[in-house]
Amino acid sequence: MDRYLVFGHPVRHSKSPFIHTLFARQTQQELEYGLAEPDVDEFAQALRTFFDQGGKGCNVTVPFKEQAFTLVDCLSPRAKRAGAVNTIKLTDDGVLLGDNTDGAGLVADLKSHGVTLADSRILLLGAGGAARGALAPLLAELPSELVIANRTHTKAQQLAAEFHDLGPVIAQTYEQLAGPFDLVINSTSASLQGELPPLAPALIHTDIAIYDMMYGASDTAFISWAKQHGARQTMDGLGMLVEQAAEAFTVWRGIRPGTKQVLRELKRNLGVI
Ligand code: ATR
Repeated sequence: MDRYLVFGHPVRHSKSPFIHTLFARQTQQELEYGLAEPDVDEFAQALRTFFDQGGKGCNVTVPFKEQAFTLVDCLSPRAKRAGAVNTIKLTDDGVLLGDNTDGAGLVADLKSHGVTLADSRILLLGAGGAARGALAPLLAELPSELVIANRTHTKAQQLAAEFHDLGPVIAQTYEQLAGPFDLVINSTSASLQGELPPLAPALIHTDIAIYDMMYGASDTAFISWAKQHGARQTMDGLGMLVEQAAEAFTVWRGIRPGTKQVLRELKRNLGVI
């Protein structure tokens, strides 16, 4: 049977096996999908061994995405732009192809929530790996402006300069931000520590869409905060998780699974509904 898995550390709580098993059942594909948690300095060897032993493809998550970028034989254009790889496929010619489906997953999830990206003014919080992966797919949707704000301002400036050729992207400090924005995307890891990015509450209004790439059984700190300040449309990263997986599954199997039912089952599994 064709074998796939996700590499990460820690990875025990990953929902990827759950999601891909449902995709396989739904599309009647025969495959198995597991977990691998190599030590941080043993990822390269573990990846090689997996493919030497007949593995067909894998996902890569924290903290291995940047390293995976350097280990594959060739890169998709979107992986090259993202500077990170979250999906690897062994092609029929024996080539390890590195791809990145995170940004496409974010955009697909935003669209499935009815968020309009064309001509919208987007605020992206954070300038780490998650922000970098999101920039090209967001700019491809032709927003009127995309503003990056980051605690370390120089990192936001570097990212804006790097993606400037793709669209109207600028960097501002949190203090410089002036509304109105149509959409705020939180790509920072602040919610992981229960912290908030230092965003002025005045930037939140009833018609704004709020997206937090993080997710949990209950609202993230950022989503709770935005709701308190009047945001009516809030979304967490669970949909993005399912959509990036659907995109990876399509890369591997050439068949696109439906995501709605799988997202519902995942929410049930997490106790969200
Ligand atoms: P990821 O790959 O998930 O993007 P990362 O590359 O470590 O992770 O980036 C984390 C991002 O969250 C960074 O933009 C970081 O800001 P700095 O560049 O200043 O470190 C941001 N971040 C983390 N904790 C934060 C907090 N408490 N407030 C604001 N931003 C925070």
